[in-house]
Amino acid sequence: MTKPPDTFRADVVAGLSRAAKELPCKYFYDEAGARLFDRICDLPEYYLTRAELEVMGSHAGEMAAALGAGCLVIEYGSGSSLKTPLLMSRLRYPAGYVPVDISREHLYASAAALAARLPGVEVRPVWADFTERFDVPAVAAPVRRRVVYFPGSTVGNFGPDDALRLLTGIAALCGPGGGLLVGVDLRKPAAVIEPAYNDRAGVTAAFNRNLLVRINRELGADFDPARFDHRAFFNAEHSRVEMHLVSREPQVVRVGGAVVRFAAGESVRTECSYKYAPEAFRRLAAMAGLEVVRTWTDAHHLFSVQLLAVGS
Ligand code: AVJ
Repeated sequence: MTKPPDTFRADVVAGLSRAAKELPCKYFYDEAGARLFDRICDLPEYYLTRAELEVMGSHAGEMAAALGAGCLVIEYGSGSSLKTPLLMSRLRYPAGYVPVDISREHLYASAAALAARLPGVEVRPVWADFTERFDVPAVAAPVRRRVVYFPGSTVGNFGPDDALRLLTGIAALCGPGGGLLVGVDLRKPAAVIEPAYNDRAGVTAAFNRNLLVRINRELGADFDPARFDHRAFFNAEHSRVEMHLVSREPQVVRVGGAVVRFAAGESVRTECSYKYAPEAFRRLAAMAGLEVVRTWTDAHHLFSVQLLAVGS
């Protein structure tokens, strides 16, 4: 399979050259970052993963029934080893499972795990960046509909324009009759959201700083992660959590040939995580030609899994 293009260096240098510095959050997930993220999912303050698992545990049967027989399930990001079998095991005559991931290790590990659990399902992993165009592999069984499964509230990492572009691409990929099953974290008071990104054990802070560790290792930069503070807050105007790394003092850092200056208190935004009121997500989806047909939530209405249909 062809390797997705490597734009890490260019993305990092471009992001740090802006007046308001930022780094793309998709680069959090190197090996150490993926391990830290797994620990985040187990934190008492991080409600998202537990709430989504609760939704899948309680309602995967209804989701499968709503999707019907003969689905080709295309999963965007393949890290969710627990949720996917909950869905796949309940589908009638699934035509196949196509995990799509930029990390080759995650991709083949989760593909193998699912193949072992559901030996009757054809698994065709695709090593790609799902924000770029990719080909859907052919499968032996007849495909009645294509369904994109996009769990984990990863859609929340995209700003309005990029989210619209992504959803429009999903609608085109699935085609008429196709569907999207997407995990969406719901908007709620900052007092509930903010602790999830400011855990007492400091795992999220380590996850955030690990981005600098990765840049040092892979791009030969000389960041001192200890000279940056972790900061995360809910931006109500934009309905998103923002994570930042804030320079504790004036400093100069070398990053792959570039020299980057930081003032004391200057911040690098490392992630946006949008939280949607149901109506706001419905409107966004509609612009992409997707209609929300059903929404499932956990008992506390923290998190939703929504089934969308491609309009004809
Ligand atoms: C994987 C994007 C859902 O936004 O909550 C966790 C990533 N960042 N803690 C999120 C994350 C900080 C997470 N998503």
